[in-house]
Amino acid sequence: MIFETHAHYDDEAFDADREELLSSLPGLGIRRIVNVGASIRTTKASLALAEQYDEIYAAVGVHPEDITDLNEESFAWLAQQTRLPKVVAVGETGLDYYWEKEAAMQEVQRYWFRRQLALAEESGLPVIVHSREAAADTMEIIREAVRNSPQKTSDRRGVIHCYSYSPEQAKEYVKMGYYIGIGGVVTFQNARKLKETAEQIPLERILLETDSPYLAPKPYRGKRNYSGYLPYVVKQIAQLKGVTTDEVERVTWENAMHLFTKVKENDTDDPSAGS
Ligand code: NI
Repeated sequence: MIFETHAHYDDEAFDADREELLSSLPGLGIRRIVNVGASIRTTKASLALAEQYDEIYAAVGVHPEDITDLNEESFAWLAQQTRLPKVVAVGETGLDYYWEKEAAMQEVQRYWFRRQLALAEESGLPVIVHSREAAADTMEIIREAVRNSPQKTSDRRGVIHCYSYSPEQAKEYVKMGYYIGIGGVVTFQNARKLKETAEQIPLERILLETDSPYLAPKPYRGKRNYSGYLPYVVKQIAQLKGVTTDEVERVTWENAMHLFTKVKENDTDDPSAGS
């Protein structure tokens, strides 16, 4: 059984065959999915998918590229959604200096990143962090949030999704109670740093994710991604860690269940129950 911790099935890339594709996932062993909001519109779409499908849960948040969506009113709405039973995380939120080069807008990203980290803390939910070409500022802001947290030690603060920095920094995040999200990129020939990261951090701190429709693994690189390709990621991690693919599936499943405390372990119509 595979726990997919990061997908965007609301994306228009799935408009033509969404129902069919999502209905096929349980049969492929994909038993839990977190559909991640990236704007107010896609957060609403994530909530709708979570309502429609038992195995789908929602994360509510605004991505740094869509930060102009946020104001006090929309933020208050976001905060309300965290109380819904199928909302399991705040995110994705974070910093993206690859797409945003303007200093003033980067400052706005930092402001709403801090606010969403505080919302995660208040709501008792983990946070899903997007960070691209913003290693130092992301580390600093997360450090500050951990320092200010009333919960001095926690091993379920959140996940650094689509991890792209050094193994050393990954270990720092792990120490602060974060998981490291690994997807299709780990199968790429040139992903040396990410492979090293997967080797060096404990399997107990790795989460499986696709970021569908983006970042399909080899041999589908460049094509539309979906959770059905996660076995390629599992196989690569198993190789790097020197363990079986079953072990990777089992441990990463437990990791996700530990982090996303609102996800139900058993649903009544679980075909694999008892097997
Ligand atoms: Ni994403």
